[in-house]
Amino acid sequence: MSSEKMHIDPYEKKFMVIGIVVLVVFAISITVAGFMLGIQVPSPSQLIDPNTVADSGPYADPGLKELSPGNYELYILATASPWRFYPEEVSVPVGATVTFHVTSADVQHGFKLQDTNINFMVLPGQQSTLTYTFEETGEYPYVCTEYCGVGHQNMYGVITVE
Ligand code: CUA
Repeated sequence: MSSEKMHIDPYEKKFMVIGIVVLVVFAISITVAGFMLGIQVPSPSQLIDPNTVADSGPYADPGLKELSPGNYELYILATASPWRFYPEEVSVPVGATVTFHVTSADVQHGFKLQDTNINFMVLPGQQSTLTYTFEETGEYPYVCTEYCGVGHQNMYGVITVE
């Protein structure tokens, strides 16, 4: 066994340093985004049977539910028969914190709420959940962002903050 140090080519060494610096920067960015800026990664919050989702439970009567003053849950069901969201119109008071729960009864849809960071895929069999606080009054349109069939362009709605 030689006691000599392992030889590393200077270019390779530079590359390793760059790689480690990039990893550290990413780790710091994710920590800041997650814990200080409140950026959330949409992830399935629950598994749901798409065949029965409209028959019972919150998606049988989708819409806004008030949990406590200023705190709401909003259940939205996306369907392709016909192509639309249930509901298509929602009103909330300014300052409301709304937890969005969205699922699909059939094919893959998308959900994007304009001027917010609410943007996720809507998959049959799972519920997507994100929370947003409406600090400003106005109209916030939402649309389907995944091509889901010939009626895709009919899938839209609006949240009115008053
Ligand atoms: Cu639903 Cu596009």
